Amino acid sequence: MDSDRTASASTGQADPIDTLPPTFRWGVATSSYQIEGAVAEDGRAPSIWDTFCRMPGAVANGDNGDVACDHYHRMPQDVALIADLGLDTYRFSVAWPRVQPGGRGPANPAGLAFYDRLVDELLGRGVDPWVTLYHWDLPQELEDAGGWPVRDTAYRFADYAELVFDALGDRVKTWTTLNEPWCSAMLGYAYGAHAPGRRDLGDAIAAAHHLLLGHGLAVQRLRSAAQGPVDLGITVNLATADPATDSPADRDAARAADGLGNRLYLDALVHGRYPEDVMADLARQGVHIPVEEGDLAVISTPFDVLGVNFYFGQLFSGVDEQGRDRDEAGLPVQRVVRRDLPRTAMDWEIVPESFTELLVRLSQDYPGVPMVITENGAAFDDRPDADGFVADDDRVAYLAEHLRAVARARLTGADVRGYFAWSLLDNFEWAYGYDKRFGIVRVDYDTQRRTPKRSALWYRDTVRRVRGDR
Ligand code: NOJ
Repeated sequence: MDSDRTASASTGQADPIDTLPPTFRWGVATSSYQIEGAVAEDGRAPSIWDTFCRMPGAVANGDNGDVACDHYHRMPQDVALIADLGLDTYRFSVAWPRVQPGGRGPANPAGLAFYDRLVDELLGRGVDPWVTLYHWDLPQELEDAGGWPVRDTAYRFADYAELVFDALGDRVKTWTTLNEPWCSAMLGYAYGAHAPGRRDLGDAIAAAHHLLLGHGLAVQRLRSAAQGPVDLGITVNLATADPATDSPADRDAARAADGLGNRLYLDALVHGRYPEDVMADLARQGVHIPVEEGDLAVISTPFDVLGVNFYFGQLFSGVDEQGRDRDEAGLPVQRVVRRDLPRTAMDWEIVPESFTELLVRLSQDYPGVPMVITENGAAFDDRPDADGFVADDDRVAYLAEHLRAVARARLTGADVRGYFAWSLLDNFEWAYGYDKRFGIVRVDYDTQRRTPKRSALWYRDTVRRVRGDR
């Protein structure tokens, strides 16, 4: 399918996608709770998401991950899908409550065995495994002991990371510690939108710090346990924050949003310091980051690859609709301004140009850090035909525009080395349940039938073309 090339073709210019090098890494991503199901099998204990899904009103339609895509029982078939698409890498996450059910103590061999089989299946099909150690399914027992706002959880995470590495490190060469710590901290502990559903900014900021500390400790443990070369990293979600106008209030609102959403994590990880302006913003709300001596040195332990997840950008204003620049608590207003732009089914603005700008800026502000796009993709209201096929031209366009954005950033000097579409399968989209479909492969939840969408075929053909396969 060549529809994605029409934009460039009509202007007579080469498609920037074709400038991506043959060494570029191509993959798809998923996460354990979103696809596996089998929540009570082989000794798996509940995670915070099993608990959260049972809170009335927490998840759309009362959905949960009990069955999800039943990937736990259909793993070889799903691996075959990836191989058939000709992708070289599969990024998946390990469920902590499967392999160390209570979050501490010895491994659960039956839980680990699943990932052992998965890794072997991937390697047998010529697909490189890329493990994410934590994609949000904290063992409930650790939440009962205080969760991420408690410092001990960082040490529990480091132990767990080493335990998984001991089992799979002989075959898995790329490891991501955490997926999107902003989401774990803020959605989970400040906004109550994700598990565990708490609402306290101080707890959320403590959670963010302990997540980052856990990351640093895990990198140290894995690095010293590694027998040969490994690539270690972390994945952050970055949304661009631009001022609605040039006014000082709007610019300050964008600065603050970028600070709490992006720089808090990146500056700590790369430069070993929390940004002064963000600490000042937090202090105004009575919140202080619980940093202990040496923490920032641990957090900024050198790593090999920064995973970037990008979905959308936002415009910010520092005044509310009545023109006031302070809210009821006397704090500066931070208001998202809706732009007249196309949106996905998540109501997220489609802004590929912002993706280019973001990657170029990262390469300038955090030089020397190789990046991989560990997630990018979109939910749309798919309409399957009678055979279950989805002609998702909207998703094809989204993926093509964002790949083009990556290629443009590379041409401007950003060191981006790979791209993974989110997601292989339609799956459990957290608080949105199963309504929001991000897959390039459709899942019929009644039959668990998988049907590659047009976007999957487009992705396969694009990868083949760019890699120069015959
Ligand atoms: C990022 C998260 O890592 C993933 O779990 C989620 O499904 C996608 N964003 C889409 O919201």
